[in-house]
Amino acid sequence: MCGIVGAVAERNVVQILLEGLRRLEYRGYDSAGVALLNNGELSITRRVGKVKALSDALDDESSLGTTGIAHTRWATHGGVTEVNAHPHTSSERFALVHNGIIENHKALRDALSDKDYAFVSDTDTETIAHTIAEARKHCDTLLESVLQSVKSFHGAYGTVIIDKEDPNTMVVARSGSPLVIGLGIGENFIASDQMALLPVTRRFIFLEEGDVAEITRTTVKIIDASGEKVEREVVESSVEHDAGDKAGYRHYMLKEIYEQPAVIRNTLQGRVTPDGISDDVFGEGSDEVFAKVENIKIIACGTSYHAGMTAKYWLEAYAGVCCDVEIASEFRYRKSVVKPNSLIVTISQSGETADTLAALKLAKESGYMSSLAICNVDGSSLVRESSLSFMTRAGAEIGVASTKAFTTQLAGFLMLVLAIGKHKGMSDTLKSSILQSLAELPSKLEETLTLADDIDDLAEEFSDKHHSLFLGRGDQYPIAMEGALKLKEISYIHAEAYASGELKHGPLALIDAEMPVIVVAPNNELLEKLKSNVEEVRARGGIMYVFADKDAHFKSDETMRVLDVPHCSEAIAPIVYTIPLQLLSYYVALIKGTDVDQPRNLAKSVTVE
Ligand code: G6P
Repeated sequence: MCGIVGAVAERNVVQILLEGLRRLEYRGYDSAGVALLNNGELSITRRVGKVKALSDALDDESSLGTTGIAHTRWATHGGVTEVNAHPHTSSERFALVHNGIIENHKALRDALSDKDYAFVSDTDTETIAHTIAEARKHCDTLLESVLQSVKSFHGAYGTVIIDKEDPNTMVVARSGSPLVIGLGIGENFIASDQMALLPVTRRFIFLEEGDVAEITRTTVKIIDASGEKVEREVVESSVEHDAGDKAGYRHYMLKEIYEQPAVIRNTLQGRVTPDGISDDVFGEGSDEVFAKVENIKIIACGTSYHAGMTAKYWLEAYAGVCCDVEIASEFRYRKSVVKPNSLIVTISQSGETADTLAALKLAKESGYMSSLAICNVDGSSLVRESSLSFMTRAGAEIGVASTKAFTTQLAGFLMLVLAIGKHKGMSDTLKSSILQSLAELPSKLEETLTLADDIDDLAEEFSDKHHSLFLGRGDQYPIAMEGALKLKEISYIHAEAYASGELKHGPLALIDAEMPVIVVAPNNELLEKLKSNVEEVRARGGIMYVFADKDAHFKSDETMRVLDVPHCSEAIAPIVYTIPLQLLSYYVALIKGTDVDQPRNLAKSVTVE
């Protein structure tokens, strides 16, 4: 989703801005633009399409600027056009970029039109630029103008404005959309994600909700939501500089699929001991919370929601704790009942998903005893807003379709099961078996990745299909859901997942030779039930692709192709069976020639509603 980069320096900042935008491309966008201040002149360049088109347009020596702001836009208000792309301007003097949505933009637009501001775009963003321009008429500084203007904005914004009359200053404001200041030597930067600035600095200040800041080459002045001047901590980034590199893989997604054994090893390291989970892995005081907890509510979106769905099976079966899972966008807008001694658990790769953040805010106001965030981005809003946190160590995930973040979330949940189970009478046998399974997990994943060539062959059979059905039972049902989501996200083939016991309640009507049925079949206590479901499909002429444990004794024939998945214990089977489904969607997408890492219409981090 939209990305922001800005710089104020003595040198030309054009390449810094373009590199920043490239590093944010993975988030998904449809147009890009840059505003530059050079020798008292303001120039704007915008292009529909990729950052490459923008950089081609700027690729001559005349593109100079010592202060500049840049943006990748993911359209919300107004179509994908150059005119709607950011930066937006006001009074031929101010240029502004914005992430988020200004909900009262219509009222602002009407009021500003009455004051003779001419709108050239259909965006909500343009109202911010004109509001600040209007405020600047009676405020002494740009900072004061922004402080006054933000009072009239309803909605979410991360915004940066520059003024041709004050060329060495950027003013930024954050509410509901993240912004991070990058500190250089004699130059400073702003971005919506630290990834954008890693080539120029590793020292960051994460702005808090309601902060407004004035940034010059040598100073940073932050005013908090209550209007007080504040100092915020400077954080040294631990994110790898080259996290944005494909390391020889054709796509980030493939690289990230293959990284899974290593990042899961990382996620477990130092946290799992032969006796269980180390103290405070989930944050200071987590042990007391886990001793008291009786109910868990898990909230998330997209792939993270599927991790929560899987965790429900584990938490209830292994730790004996009651667990509900809900999509954040539903939870945030309904009245729900909080059960006694309830813990709210949010899951998010980015930690910036707007619906998940809003759901957490609501939960905190509704009487949950504590909140835990399972997240991949340290310092993200979700982590900062939660009492407890667990960082997955998946490293930067660039592919829009989530892979390694999902499996590290699942590894985190198995640790949570152990940490809570300790207080709920989990037997030593069960505990040892989960610990043993976790220890084996990275090597099981390595073994499973060797299926890639077979899956590549199999993908050919999907290339002309328009629909598909994924089936699983028990804790494999959410894995089937995740497999279906992956396939639709990157290959654009319609894919649905069903708990296979539900087949006869509707989807059997769809079965024919044109609708491949993908089945995940570990050797567990539900296997015989699953086999009956497979026969139901076969009897209706369906064609099946079964990922199965060898001991499950499925045999390939003309209606069924079986791929053997390495034998693994029940606790980690959902993680292991995720791998072939990720590979299947990847190879199908390759054949279909889609944009694997940045599928159409999707964004990596959905920071607006
Ligand atoms: C977007 C991404 C998905 C992700 C979902 C939730 O839809 O494309 O890959 O699962 O957001 O994101 P989060 O960062 O909260 O896990």
